[in-house]
Amino acid sequence: MQARGPLMIEHRLIERMLWVIKDVLAEIESIHKVNPFFVDIAVDFIRVYADRTHHGKEEGILFRELNSKPLSAKDRRIMNELIEEHIFGRQTTKALVEANTRYRNGDENALADMSHKFRTLIEFYPKHIEKEDKVFFPSSRAYFTDDEDQAMLAEFWEFDRKMIHEKYKSVVEGLER
Ligand SMILES: [Fe+2]
Ligand SMILES: [Fe+2]
Repeated sequence: MQARGPLMIEHRLIERMLWVIKDVLAEIESIHKVNPFFVDIAVDFIRVYADRTHHGKEEGILFRELNSKPLSAKDRRIMNELIEEHIFGRQTTKALVEANTRYRNGDENALADMSHKFRTLIEFYPKHIEKEDKVFFPSSRAYFTDDEDQAMLAEFWEFDRKMIHEKYKSVVEGLER
């Protein structure tokens, strides 16, 4: 498998979550309420899986390695766009968490804010995935030898191995506080 393999497999699970969110969004718009526990689960998925585990490998390993390569102006520009989009995703998720807290506290405007943030995510994220799968991953592969690509793949597996421990350590720490 090439290093981009696990990243593309992760994209498929992220897409499935986006389809779930899309269904819930349609429900929110028809019944004008949401289960705040669903929002918690969606946020946990986005933060721990899509951001920490997935973007963590993209930024911390793939983009780090690309930084030492003579990237073309176009590839450099796309990589910077991808980083900006990751930041935008984090900001949107943070706003979603805040709206969910306000919803739990009875704020009437919170539901509309949550719908808006969910819609933002389901509209922007598939384009981000497509840009990586179809444009950036194929063009960035050309900067690496087969050995370098396999070294990144090995580092990806090692990164993933730590994730489950990090996740549940943070769960315990959250409960201890
Ligand atoms: Fe990304
Ligand atoms: Fe990605």
